[in-house]
Amino acid sequence: MSVFSEKLQDKFKHYLARYETRRSAILPILHEIQDEYGWIQPEHIESLEKEYGLAKVHVQEVVSFYSMYRTEKPRPYRIYFCDNIVCTLMGAEKTMEKIRKVMKSYEDKGLESPFSLEGVPCLGVCDGAPAMLVNKERYLRVDSEKVEEILMKYGA
Ligand code: FES
Repeated sequence: MSVFSEKLQDKFKHYLARYETRRSAILPILHEIQDEYGWIQPEHIESLEKEYGLAKVHVQEVVSFYSMYRTEKPRPYRIYFCDNIVCTLMGAEKTMEKIRKVMKSYEDKGLESPFSLEGVPCLGVCDGAPAMLVNKERYLRVDSEKVEEILMKYGA
């Protein structure tokens, strides 16, 4: 029995028939999985290999290359922190470390952190480095002190 719904399986068949090579169908198939489940889980990748002959290594290459694919369960507040050169030079790593500590403090209490953290290449606001987004809200010049205040707005 498949881990995927019948509706999803029909969509997969459609994409696999549409493209010349099976590998070309990986992107739209992953989009469909993410739309249905919210994220790409390891069992999904296993099943794509077993059920559809899409090599695990090829699927993982795609998932790890494109930041639009989520490999962690979505949280209410998704933090995208720029880890490109300007933000790195302005202290992005120190601020990201602070965010990781806040996230870990939830785990230490046996709670699920409401935050997820993802490094992204350049948010296009280099003059405001280090920069981050929380969902769609943009924050500039985010040092490790300022980030604490920001996260408190989201209940941290
Ligand atoms: S390098 Fe960080 S916003 Fe451009």
